[in-house]
Amino acid sequence: MKFFIDSADIQEIREAHSLGLIDGVTTNPSLIAKTGRGFGEVVGEICSLVAGPVSLETVSRDAAGMAREGEGLVRYGKNVVVKVPMTTEGLKAVRLLGERGIKTNVTLCFSPVQALLAAKAGAAYISPFVGRLDDVSQSGMDVIGQIVKIYANYKFTTEVLVASIRNPIHVLTAALMGAHVATMPFAVIKQLAQHPLTDIGVERFLKDWEKVPNKF
Ligand code: E4P
Repeated sequence: MKFFIDSADIQEIREAHSLGLIDGVTTNPSLIAKTGRGFGEVVGEICSLVAGPVSLETVSRDAAGMAREGEGLVRYGKNVVVKVPMTTEGLKAVRLLGERGIKTNVTLCFSPVQALLAAKAGAAYISPFVGRLDDVSQSGMDVIGQIVKIYANYKFTTEVLVASIRNPIHVLTAALMGAHVATMPFAVIKQLAQHPLTDIGVERFLKDWEKVPNKF
C-alpha cells in the first residue's frame, strides 16, 4: 500500500519524507492557502523534494480550462499528477489530458458510480473522500469497499486513493480492503506509529537495562 502525505506544508512534507515512508503528495487549494505562500513557490519546493507523484489541483470549471491549467502544472515536475473535480467537465478533462500523456487524479468523489465513471474516463487515480462522507453520516469506508470491488471486477487500472482520512482506523480498513493508496495528514502518519504498550515497553526495557552490570 502506498502512503501519500496530504499537505502543502514544506516542513511537514520534509519531516514525513525523512521517515522514508512517503510515496507521494496530494495538495488542494485549501492546503495551499493555509501555507500563506505563493502557489509556484510552494509546489516548486514540493516537486523538487519528492520523487513520487505530486497531485496539484486545477481550479477551472470547464474541461478546456482544466486541460490548459493541467498543461501548465506539469511544468513544475515530471511527477505532477493533475487533479480535476468529479464533474462531467472534469471527466472530459481526464480524456483531454490523457491524450497529451498527462496523468490525472479525479478528486471530490463521493460514490462508487462516480468512481466507475472516472475509471472509464482513464484517470490514474480516484480520490474518494471518506472523512467528509462520515461527517454526513454515510460510511466512507463502505464506499471504498465498493469501489475496490468494482475496479477488480473489470480490471480497471485506476488506483483507489483513499482521501480525507481522519484517523488510523481509516488507514487500517483501507489496507484490509486492498485500496492502492492512502493520503493522510502528517498527524495521522505519526499516529500510525504509536501504541501505548510500545512506549511502556521501551521505558521498562531501559529501566531494566540500568540494572545490567557490564554493558556492551
Ligand atoms: C485529497 O486529495 C484531499 O486533499 C484531502 O484528502 C481532503 O481532506 P479533508 O476532507 O480533510 O479536507
